[in-house]
Amino acid sequence: MKKSLSSRIILLIVVVLIVSNSILCAISIFYSRSAIRKSIQQRMLDIANCASGSVDGDMLGSLTAEDIGSSKYTQIYDALSVFRDNVELEYVYSIRSEGHGVFIFTIDTDPDTPAAFGDRVEYTDALNTAAHGTGAVDNVPYEDAWGRHYSTYSPVFDSSKNVAGIIGVDFSEDWFNRQLADETLRIMLIFSAVLLGTLILSIFVSFSVVRGITNPLKKMIEVAQKYKEGDFSEKMDVGGSEEITDLSEALSSMADALQDKMAILQSVQVTLSEEVEHKKSENEMLMVQVVQALAGAIDAKDVYTNGHSARVAEYSREIAKRYGYSERKQDEIYVTGLLHDVGKIGVPDEVINKPSRLTDEEFAMIKAHPRLGADILGKIHSMPNLMAGARYHHERYGGGGYPDGISGKDIPELARIIAVADAYDAMSSNRSYRKALPQETVRAEIEKGKGTQFDPEFADIMLTMIDEDTEYDMREKDEEE
Ligand SMILES: [Fe+2]
Repeated sequence: MKKSLSSRIILLIVVVLIVSNSILCAISIFYSRSAIRKSIQQRMLDIANCASGSVDGDMLGSLTAEDIGSSKYTQIYDALSVFRDNVELEYVYSIRSEGHGVFIFTIDTDPDTPAAFGDRVEYTDALNTAAHGTGAVDNVPYEDAWGRHYSTYSPVFDSSKNVAGIIGVDFSEDWFNRQLADETLRIMLIFSAVLLGTLILSIFVSFSVVRGITNPLKKMIEVAQKYKEGDFSEKMDVGGSEEITDLSEALSSMADALQDKMAILQSVQVTLSEEVEHKKSENEMLMVQVVQALAGAIDAKDVYTNGHSARVAEYSREIAKRYGYSERKQDEIYVTGLLHDVGKIGVPDEVINKPSRLTDEEFAMIKAHPRLGADILGKIHSMPNLMAGARYHHERYGGGGYPDGISGKDIPELARIIAVADAYDAMSSNRSYRKALPQETVRAEIEKGKGTQFDPEFADIMLTMIDEDTEYDMREKDEEE
């Protein structure tokens, strides 16, 4: 599935923001870690300084092993115990420098395994710094009998401003690492909150920016779709950014040019089709005139059947119309009817007009006219039905007709129509040897021929036409009429 422009842009923004923020967060944590350490160490030092501040320097400086349990000893012990009990530290104790880098415990407030007065304290740089009057913290944890610790040392001054002792405060390595982890987590949380806020804001902003592009595009696609369907009523005036406006203007003028060209083409097309229509009707008229002239020539050979072809053509067209044929097909049947006896051109006039009985030879000549007609009309390849009408109009529905003796639906439909119309006209017209037959006789003959001579369906249509013709108008008129 194709992704829309807006979802692509928003996805890109989200990915870029997450990646850049993560990198920024990692760099910040990397560089702020030493600052965090320093801040934790400063906090440790503050605690140690507070503890040292609570101890009397002169008292601490003069303390000896014999003072253990004295009020002086208890006073210092209690002051330090307050810190032991209320602050997040592991151990708090006092130290004295014996010179030459030697330090001993004086008071240790550890209730379980306290160091004894005079026990040696492990030398560290921080301890030495404190001995010279400045509080300091171990940079690396050290391990002793009480576990792994960071120690903080703060000097205690006597009334002469000399270092009378040092207060040591131990923080466990675990506590230190926990502080470090907590601070790091806090930074990460701040970054995540900033990331989330930025993401929401960016998505909101990019939505409105992207909509400013996609909405005009959608509108343009809609209008272009209408252009495609030939509807140029709407202008591509979509607004938006400069580029979008330029694009829509370009498309609009393209549509205008297209519309002009289409108008020209349409007018040319109208002129051409009018011309074609005109020529076509001229041709059709010409053809009908030629065919009528030809039919007239055929009928003229038989002095007694004046207008026979024209009447058969008319009746055939009426049957076809009632049967439900299209106008075009009716016209075709009409022309076929006009030419159905064209083969009589090849039969001598004296045979056609002979009032007395025909010899077998003469009758054979008459019976040849369907085949002759088919030969003539077969040359008109564009209207193959003309040939069929001429050839098969003397076939009988029940068989036994000529020239091929075919029957039923094998006889082409228009030949079956012409056969009924032809027989009707023969009976309702004057002949050399008789007058036109009365209508009831004609009707009875058609009825009798249903299914044997005629297709029953077309015979029924003919019968209806006869029944509707109450005045017997549908026939060759007597000269006196
Ligand atoms: Fe005929």
